[in-house]
Amino acid sequence: MKEIEIKMTYREYPDLHDLPEDEQMLVSEAVAAASGAYAPYSRFMVGAAMLFNDGSVIRGANVENAAYPSGSCAEKTVLSYAISNYPGKKSVAIAIAALSGGKLTREPVPPCGNCRQMLLEEEKRQGSEIKVILTGKDKIIELKNCESLMPLHFTKSNLES
Ligand code: THU
Repeated sequence: MKEIEIKMTYREYPDLHDLPEDEQMLVSEAVAAASGAYAPYSRFMVGAAMLFNDGSVIRGANVENAAYPSGSCAEKTVLSYAISNYPGKKSVAIAIAALSGGKLTREPVPPCGNCRQMLLEEEKRQGSEIKVILTGKDKIIELKNCESLMPLHFTKSNLES
């Protein structure tokens, strides 16, 4: 029997202004994206902004549906847009922010399991790390890649083994 330990570390910043300027900008883009959410059922508006290595940024938001499972999370929206429109571009970071009652949440919102799975696949597809920036009013959390969101993950290589 072997006991295996998988470690993950992340950084916590008390203030947005502690981040480098390009990341502050990406956080503002995620907050702006949240206001474009269609969330009449949960009223929880999530925005995601993705920064490419050429400096360009794209945005996505959650889109709900009366048939609840048909809805899409903000991360899934922005990833689908990135992959279908810019398959050759490399993303370097994704920022996520949510508005509850019209205000930025106090705590950063961590991506759901499905979105973690999708983020991981995109990181593997493009072959380089995508930093994850989770925004809250009280603190900002930064993970150096998507893989740290998902230890012991299922990937394409499992299908081939
Ligand atoms: N949501 C996201 O957009 N991203 C997440 O990572 C967590 C949840 C959305 C889905 C749904 O529209 C609303 O937030 C409440 O769960």
